[in-house]
Amino acid sequence: MCSIIGFVSSKQASPSIVQGLRRMEYRGYDSAGIAVLEGKKIHVRKGVGKVAEVNNMLGMDELPGYVAVGHTRWATHGGVTEKNAHPHLSSSGKLAIVHNGIVDNYRVLKESLLKEGFSFRSETDSEVIANLLEKAFAETRSIEESMMRVVTQIDGKYAFVAIFDDGTLAAARFHEPLIIGIGENGYYVASDVLGFAGVTDKVVYVDNGEFAAIDSEGISIFDFQGNPVPHGVTRVAEEFGVIGKGKYVHFTLKEIFEQPQTIAMAAKLTESELKEVSRLLTEASRVYVLGCGTSYHAALLGCRLLSEYTQVNATPVLASEAKFFPTKYDSKTVLIALSQSGETADVLEAVEIGLEKGAKVVSLVNVATSTLARISTLSIGLRCGPEIGVAATKSFTSQLATFYAIASHLSGGRVPSDLGGVSKGISELLVKQTHLREVARRMKGASDIYVLGTGPHYCVALEGALKIKELAYVHAEALPGGELKHGPLALLDPSVYVIVVNPTDATYVDMLASAHEAKSRGAKIIGISDKPSDVYDEWVGLPKLDPSLLPLVEVVPFQALAYYLAVERNADPDYPRNLAKSVTVK
Ligand code: G6P
Repeated sequence: MCSIIGFVSSKQASPSIVQGLRRMEYRGYDSAGIAVLEGKKIHVRKGVGKVAEVNNMLGMDELPGYVAVGHTRWATHGGVTEKNAHPHLSSSGKLAIVHNGIVDNYRVLKESLLKEGFSFRSETDSEVIANLLEKAFAETRSIEESMMRVVTQIDGKYAFVAIFDDGTLAAARFHEPLIIGIGENGYYVASDVLGFAGVTDKVVYVDNGEFAAIDSEGISIFDFQGNPVPHGVTRVAEEFGVIGKGKYVHFTLKEIFEQPQTIAMAAKLTESELKEVSRLLTEASRVYVLGCGTSYHAALLGCRLLSEYTQVNATPVLASEAKFFPTKYDSKTVLIALSQSGETADVLEAVEIGLEKGAKVVSLVNVATSTLARISTLSIGLRCGPEIGVAATKSFTSQLATFYAIASHLSGGRVPSDLGGVSKGISELLVKQTHLREVARRMKGASDIYVLGTGPHYCVALEGALKIKELAYVHAEALPGGELKHGPLALLDPSVYVIVVNPTDATYVDMLASAHEAKSRGAKIIGISDKPSDVYDEWVGLPKLDPSLLPLVEVVPFQALAYYLAVERNADPDYPRNLAKSVTVK
């Protein structure tokens, strides 16, 4: 999604805005821009491309001035053009806004503003906010009154920051994230703590349905009715400061390599977390596990673990489908919500529906400051540190590791809770990355890849295919091995690659038969297995592990293969085209 940031500073604000935008770029990277107040004039520089590209072109970080706002865009309304990039100035140029979300009723508002003589320069929904604020301010001469008027006029889910020519920033939050950071040199307001990470860990939460007025004197927070809201200062985890690439070329590669450590961290739930989650799950009459994208694949595996090894029967639900799924929520229902970001709109919507009907919510979430973490009955942190690469990697294995810890506790140890062997196995696999890079080089011309898995390995196949699609832009489709013969075989020919997830557990014989079926139609077979076979054109070895733990390691070769496929195909693995890490709109 888009990221927004504002800074009221005692020094030049623009370098900090550009730095913050670079760190939040995972939220959208179609275009970027900045507006800075110098004297009474607001200067805007914006353009199409990533923050670094736009900055190199336009020198966003050279603008003088102490108060500024910035934006990175993931287009929803209006094409990817310089005009549609934010910030947007109001008609008179006396204020500018940056916006994340969607103004659902923007057409009606725009028409009536046009009739009143306001001008528009873009095709975006966002620009109405700038002109509505200008109109309200001309009528009331009060920033607080103007904000109240605007938030009651616009429908949809949004967060925005406006810069006024008297040096005030005004920021509103309605179902999109917004957090204030208190630094030594001034006040930040951003979509994510990463916007000011490394500068301060002192934050003030702006809650849903609140707006803030920030100037050099301080912060005032109000609800949408204009009542002042008291606010406290909270310290957020220090790990948000560790956000460099280290020795790696890309964040994605770094995050893949962090997994031996991050898995171990995630599996260490506190005694009280284990006690509370066990109580909630054992008292529940229904348990649904939900997520989107990669988090949904972890939900599928989590459900299998709970249903296979514990007394808890859990149903997986795609969060984006939850509204249309025949769920039965009541006070005896527990929703386990999985999300790296904790801001995915589809997940939040599903959870809110559950909460309204009295369900309890357990969230497994990486961003501890996120909306999901804050609205949950119990939130368990994934503790894998910031995940910047747009495609999820370490957060997936951390979600799984957390499920293993819960299932182990609930099953009296039927599932191993010691993931030391898994960490070691992943490290061994990653040592063989040069082999995976060679495999990627040979596969780089493939137009279709089928990924076969059976039982729990089908969930890994789904995640593996998603990684290939997201990172390498190659059509990849996951299939349960046995389904190959029921139709998809018609698609196989020598140009097709088939990757089989084939550990020597109960699924081995069936999957080997599917591999042979594919091979005899000419497809090239890549086997991910702890045992070599003649049927594989390429064999990627797996470590020997307790069979119940295999999914944790099986996904790693897919992550590395997809990463190297992206590199071979000249795609940017950290910022795949058309995607955003955190999709905060419907
Ligand atoms: C987006 C990302 C996916 C991610 C999904 C869920 O679609 O591009 O990579 O898996 O959101 O994100 P979440 O933060 O809820 O885990």
